[in-house]
Parts: sequence; C-alpha cells; structure tokens
Amino acid sequence: MKDRIKDALEKVKSFKESSSEKIEEFRIEYLGQKGVVKSLFADFKTVSNQEKKEVGQLLNTLKNEIQDRIDTLKAKVSSDDSSSDNDSLDLTLPGNKFTLGSRHPISLVRNEIEDIFARMGFSISEGPEVEDDWHNFTALNFPEDHPARDMQDTFFVEGYDDKSLRTHTSSVQIRVMENEKPPLRSISPGRVYRNEAISARAHCFFHQIEGLYIDKQVTFKDLKYTLMQFAQQLFGTNTKIRLRPSYFPFTEPSAEMDISCFICNQEGCNICKYTGWVEILGCGMVDPNVLINSKIDPNEYSGYAFGMGIERITMLKFQINDIRLFYENDKYFTNQFKSYIV
Ligand code: DAH
Repeated sequence: MKDRIKDALEKVKSFKESSSEKIEEFRIEYLGQKGVVKSLFADFKTVSNQEKKEVGQLLNTLKNEIQDRIDTLKAKVSSDDSSSDNDSLDLTLPGNKFTLGSRHPISLVRNEIEDIFARMGFSISEGPEVEDDWHNFTALNFPEDHPARDMQDTFFVEGYDDKSLRTHTSSVQIRVMENEKPPLRSISPGRVYRNEAISARAHCFFHQIEGLYIDKQVTFKDLKYTLMQFAQQLFGTNTKIRLRPSYFPFTEPSAEMDISCFICNQEGCNICKYTGWVEILGCGMVDPNVLINSKIDPNEYSGYAFGMGIERITMLKFQINDIRLFYENDKYFTNQFKSYIV
C-alpha cells in the first residue's frame, strides 16, 4: 500500500503537461470517481491498525500534492493564454454577460405622452433652451412688470441682456406659429429652467410638454375632449377630468386640469390630499394677442394650448416622492423602470 502511494506521488510530481485537456485527463485519472485516490482510500480499510496513521498521512499528502499540481499547471495555462496571441483564445468559453441598462423614467413618460398625441395627429417641435425675451415672455402676452420675468425666477445669461434660459416650453408655441401656417397641431417637449431652491418637490430644471392647436373654429370643447382622451390613455380609461378656472397671460379663458385620483380611486389619500383630485396641467384658449404677435389673424383662426410638467406626471404615475431622484443617476432607482413598456 505504501509503495503504491509513493509510486503515485512520484508520477504526480513528474507530471508536466500544460494543455487544459491533458490537465483535465490527469485530474480525472487521479481525483475522478474511479480514480487512483478513490481506490487507494477504498483499500485503506485493509491497512493494519499500526500502519493506519502513517498510511493515512501519506494518502493525504498525495491528495494535496495532486490538487497543488493541478492548480499550478492550470494557472500556468491561463497565464500563457493571456500573454499569447488570439490563436489560444478558447472560443467555447461562455462570454461575459452584458447587462442591459434601462430608459430613464422621464424619457419613458415623455415617449408615452408623445405617442398619445401623435395618434391624435400632433407633430413634435422643439425650440432652443437659451431663449430671447420675445419668445419666452413678450410674445406670450406677459406684461412688462409680470413677476415671472423677475430675477428670482429666471436664469439670465450673463453678458446678454436679451437671453435667458427658457422658463417654460410655451416659448416653442410662438416659434411654431411664426414658422408654419395654420392649421397647426404640435407638441413641444423639452427642458426648462427656474431659479428655485432645490427640494423634494422643486428643482431648478425640469421638463415640460407644451401643446398647441390652431385652426378655424377651434373651441374650448375641442380642448376639453382632447385632454380627456389624453388623461384616459395615460392614467386609465376610468379617469375623470375636471377643469378649474385659472390665469395665464397667454390664454383666455385659462384653466387648470385635475384628474381623478387613480391611487385611491377618489376615496382620499395623501397623494390627492384627501380631495380625490390631482392637478396635472395648465391650459386655455390661445389669447388673441398671442395670435397677433405671431402674425396669425384672430378673426380667422382660434386655438388652444396646454402645458404640463413631465416630472410631476412621472412622480404621480410611479409614486415617486422626491424629484431629486431623477437627476442622481442612481442605477438602483432607474433600474426599477426596466419592465415599464410603453
Ligand atoms: N407655461 C405654463 C407653466 O409653465 C404652463 C401652461 C399653462 C402652458 C397653460 C400653456 C397653457 O400652454 O395654456 O406653468
């Protein structure tokens, strides 16, 4: 028995093959189910009691020696592989797994809203984020002394009297009306900026989608119906809408739209502050002054406009309670929206 072990030990020590296949054959020969070590351990029963200790130690030495040998040779094979050229690449090995990223929730909701309006015949238009006073304020019928023009709300561009970061996407309305002839049906998504303190509910930049429809004899009824269709497609077919009178310089009459709270089904919850309704957008009939400023005759054409914050809608939809999460790029946040298919 001792001789058989010593014999095996010699062979193991002199084993020098350096291909993966040969090493694997070696491993099977010695450590496999029907291998040398297994059979030696099986015969261990027959060893006399006096010799058991010595033979046992020898057997363990052999086993460790085999494992060492295999590890050393394998390490050599893999270091040879990586230092040699592509010929030694083992193409049968499984590849590295690529994990797919996910779309940002703001993009998901923006795409979804765009799709809904595209199906209703709206096209998409964009405008610059650095905007002039005319498009951001004056053409939109903001009086000279309107508080929204105030330094507190607007980021001005240093060195350019007339330039600021747009405070809303309504500026794109004007550009669309200036550049194209009615009938017009367009939505304008994009980023907007406001000089506000950052908190869980507000940020100094966010995203809006503006809507504009100009044609002959467009009425408030058209606006209401379009917005109801929109709300039901985005939040579910049972969604109800409610329009409350409001004020915007660029629309007359103006309204704010609430939807029935889809979280509590109007039973009352902290999202709707126990009112059963949540506000999602501003809207109204385009003020005749705005049409005139954009060289459209208000006697011939009328239209409606609306504007909504994408963050706000996304936060409602997914019950996100802090707007700052959108801008941190934490993959544990963004990956939660992986399965949301529009
Ligand atoms: N521009 C408004 C805002 O930023 C949103 C808005 C309200 C847009 C009413 C409109 C509208 O087109 O008709 O708060």
